[in-house]
Amino acid sequence: MIALERIDPEVAEIVRGEQRRQNETLELIASENHTSRAVMETSGSCLTDKYAEGYPHRRWYCGNEHIDAVEELAVARICKLFGVEYANVQPHSGTSANIAVYLAALEPGDKIMGMRLDHGGHLSHGMKLNFSGRQYEVVSYGVREDDELIDYDLLREQALAERPKMLIVGASAYPRVLDFAALGEIASEAGCLMLADIAHIAGLVAAGVHPSPAGHADFITTTTHKTLRGPRGGVIMAREEWAKKLNVAVFPGIQGGPLMHAIAAKAVAFGEALSEDFRKYARDVVENARALAESLVEAGWRLVSGGTDNHLVLLDLRSRNEDLSGAEASGWLEAAGIIANKNGIPFDPRPPIQTSGIRLGTPALTTRGMGAEQMRQVAAWIDKVLSSGGDENTLSEVRREVGELCSRFPVPNSVAAEGNV
Ligand SMILES: Cc1ncc(COP(=O)(O)O)c(C=O)c1O
Repeated sequence: MIALERIDPEVAEIVRGEQRRQNETLELIASENHTSRAVMETSGSCLTDKYAEGYPHRRWYCGNEHIDAVEELAVARICKLFGVEYANVQPHSGTSANIAVYLAALEPGDKIMGMRLDHGGHLSHGMKLNFSGRQYEVVSYGVREDDELIDYDLLREQALAERPKMLIVGASAYPRVLDFAALGEIASEAGCLMLADIAHIAGLVAAGVHPSPAGHADFITTTTHKTLRGPRGGVIMAREEWAKKLNVAVFPGIQGGPLMHAIAAKAVAFGEALSEDFRKYARDVVENARALAESLVEAGWRLVSGGTDNHLVLLDLRSRNEDLSGAEASGWLEAAGIIANKNGIPFDPRPPIQTSGIRLGTPALTTRGMGAEQMRQVAAWIDKVLSSGGDENTLSEVRREVGELCSRFPVPNSVAAEGNV
């Protein structure tokens, strides 16, 4: 940040503040992670200056030989990582990737069937204010009330009755394994296309600790910045037969120039994800989530679906305190240095702005090198904070202890990790 400090000390101070915040708090937001220094350097490289509308060797502007090389490398690496024939690495985000798939495969007014937002689905799967909900006819499926799991028999009945053009599977807040093979069979039986949005679990799928939708879904989309631990962005994967339609849907369909610094950083992250270290990391993410879940259950908290198979845990606050909302609980946790988000739980009586749940994820803490012992400690702090009624002394005491743990596990991409802070 040498140039930034000199030229714009005001922004430099804000960036330093954010780095301090990341180092001194525990990041439990399930959709966040800490990228490597290599990913960060590439994101901040000279590739940000280049316009590259089009695709490798078919660009609108000249001067793209290095840009072409890095986009081809990103595509080759992600195809290898997920065992797919085709990938488009240009989508700016997960939502853009989904929109491009809809544009390539659907007509306005077609019926789509996605998971209910209030049962863990995503905005871009048919929420009424989102492009997906405005452009298409939406039917939704949810989880069962008694065990909070997807009921595959019911989903099949619904798909056969509704006959959507596309079944969308994947979630932002579902703590259990998604059975892509069963979902693929349902889609074939209902004669519809299937989009598997693995934004949250992509790193787990890449590492083989969650089943893959490859071979079961027509389209796979993902973000690159969650468990996959890359720069912010999106990707679409499919069989080669969809290549032309998907490419046109991304550019010129919904985007102009691709963000080449982000695409190069995606290539770096995909390279990292192909390593044995990453496979161990993904296994640790899941083990840590399990340790966190077990300790919370031992402390008397009910978890949605009773536990977790992946990187996230959804805690039902009503199980210990009917009056505590997710909004209030996340505020107390933040004051104690534990960063998590309020989250609706299935059949939540509270509105989305309040919620009755807290979502907790282990990808970022695992990247810092924390293990089961630290997860048990984190669960004890969460229990203490949520049982405190928001008592300021308790929050400050936990905040101090959290700070001590954080100093032992610096964020790997920060200068603190090199002992300079
Ligand atoms: C399942 C799912 N799909 C898509 C997205 C959208 O990603 P982005 O925020 O990059 O648009 C998310 C983000 O949380 C998600 O959880």
